[in-house]
Amino acid sequence: MGLTRVPGLLYGGDYNPEQWPEEVWAEDVRLMAEAGVNVATVAVFSWSRLEPAPGVYEFGWLDRVLDLLHEHGIAADLATATATPPPWLVRLHPEVLPQDAAGTRLEFGSRQGYCPSSPVFRAATVRLARALAERYRDHPALVMWHVGNEYADHTTECFCPESARDFRRWLGERYATLDGLNAAWGTSCWGQHYTDWSQLEPPRRAPGPVNPAQLLDWRRFSSDALLACFEAERAVLKEVTPEVPVTTNFMSVLRDLDYWKWAAAEDLVTDDAYPDPADPEAHVKVALSYDLMRSLKRQPWLLLESAPSAVSWREVNVPKAPGVMRLHSLQALAHGSDGVMFFQWRQAKYGPEKFHSAMLPHGGTDTRQWRETVALGADVRRLAGVAGTETRAEVALVLDWESWWGLEAPESMPSNRLKLHRLLLSWYAPLHARGIAVDLVPHGRDLSGYRLVIAPNLYLCTAEQAADLASYQGQLVVGPFSGVVDAADQVHDGGAPGPLRELLGLRVEEFWPLPDGETRAVETADGAVLTARTWTEWVETEGAEVLARYRGGPLDGRPAVTRHGTATYLSCLPEDPAPLLDAVLAAAGVAGTALPEGVELCRRDGHLFLLNHGAGPATVTLPTDGTDLLTGRRLTGTVVIPAHDAVVLEHS
Ligand code: GAL
Ligand code: ZN
Repeated sequence: MGLTRVPGLLYGGDYNPEQWPEEVWAEDVRLMAEAGVNVATVAVFSWSRLEPAPGVYEFGWLDRVLDLLHEHGIAADLATATATPPPWLVRLHPEVLPQDAAGTRLEFGSRQGYCPSSPVFRAATVRLARALAERYRDHPALVMWHVGNEYADHTTECFCPESARDFRRWLGERYATLDGLNAAWGTSCWGQHYTDWSQLEPPRRAPGPVNPAQLLDWRRFSSDALLACFEAERAVLKEVTPEVPVTTNFMSVLRDLDYWKWAAAEDLVTDDAYPDPADPEAHVKVALSYDLMRSLKRQPWLLLESAPSAVSWREVNVPKAPGVMRLHSLQALAHGSDGVMFFQWRQAKYGPEKFHSAMLPHGGTDTRQWRETVALGADVRRLAGVAGTETRAEVALVLDWESWWGLEAPESMPSNRLKLHRLLLSWYAPLHARGIAVDLVPHGRDLSGYRLVIAPNLYLCTAEQAADLASYQGQLVVGPFSGVVDAADQVHDGGAPGPLRELLGLRVEEFWPLPDGETRAVETADGAVLTARTWTEWVETEGAEVLARYRGGPLDGRPAVTRHGTATYLSCLPEDPAPLLDAVLAAAGVAGTALPEGVELCRRDGHLFLLNHGAGPATVTLPTDGTDLLTGRRLTGTVVIPAHDAVVLEHS
């Protein structure tokens, strides 16, 4: 069984019929059928059209849209339409509008302008979700509920008085007593000791750096406040239509929301991915986010939005060259998506997204875009057998949101240059280049199935988390600036790596960030020289063996990379960790594949994907024989894959 009751892979996109006269709808569904579209996301921003006045519903147009879709064999990913509160709601209750960190209320006129903690907003969304669920519970087109839209897009946090109240309630649950809060936040510093709950406020704009522990709790709270909005709607959907899967579209590797927590509240994971065609690294970054999506629930997920060509929200919006829409779509399938969906079906005539590409462009059907849309639909049908298949990874990267939030606290760190996404990519990219499947893992997940676990950074690491890592039997790599603080952002006694000290067999005496542009040589025992940037540390070993030492600079001769049992520690950030990676891969018994530059290799049970992201043809030796599902040809030995083309081998 797939993600929904639609057989095979899903193909389609956001459909906004309310932006078009009804005459156009007939053409829409006819062309959708022609392109092989089998699913459409509807009503994402339709609140003001579905409920034009409090409690007054106008469902007629949506009835007709859903009927029309169903008549043409197209299923609906039906939104609860709560992503943008209607004008009447924000005029009746101006407190529904969010406030920024300066306390300024943000005006209506864009989208997603709401305070996540507003009881008025939450109640209104639940009412609308219930009305929709009750109306469409038996509609045959309904296959999935799409709650809100891209939570944290535009409104990530709100600093209004209502949010302050909610934050205080959240803090009360976490700390129970003010003493507990004062201790955790370290309010003896800078004279911040609180004597009454009412004195607590969100970290609004202040004269200087804000208490980082307060900020960390604020980030936890803000992720939870949005999640509470999702959960309130989900509860009513599950009550009325228990069998219909519920999702909300994620935003790839997003710092603001703890997606481990969010995914646990969803029936299926869906993602929106917008790799920048102008970024030569885009296919690697997006691969990382796809692997995260696959890892969140350890099951296939769905690419719910992507751009057929250009987006409209970058400084410069570069289109996708011929073949790239297909290549990017196949890439999502290769990484575990059970479908390919776009924003949006028909290119808008007005509004901020009128220059955003669509499956059906302004120019109509006699266009390159439309021909590629139709051809991709046929490819997606050829790959129907991929649906539901899984990927097995032997390597895992640890990703922890709380640690990420702590690491990227502004203004109070040894260096502001450590960015988790970059640190993840520095390990992910060479693994990806070797065709090695990677899972992302949260703290607490059973690691016994992996041969190699890499924690690029664990700034925040509790004793319990360290104990989990210590009990892991395989090869472990820990990156610099790890084990520094506990869950309250307080430095572990004795300093870094805190609870990881015994496991790593060392202590870090001093952090030694490098100025921008400066590099440091790191020499391995066999004489290879790596270049480190951004970060180094003064390490004292306590049982660990030294694999590489700093050369030159104030740390000359001191340990840079160490090993203790199966645990490798890096106190620096090598520009290219490949030699170290190859050593741990060998120790772990994980074999990569030699691939030409730009060629990506992915596996899903019984299927091998080879994708050429390079600008020229690539010659690849097939690791297995099989049938290319895209062409129907039997392939064996060596194949030449043209630029922006792919092979999807079905093999035994
Ligand atoms: C997403 C959003 C869509 C559309 C798209 C354009 O962030 O969910 O509604 O705006 O971006 O790229
Ligand atoms: Zn608010």
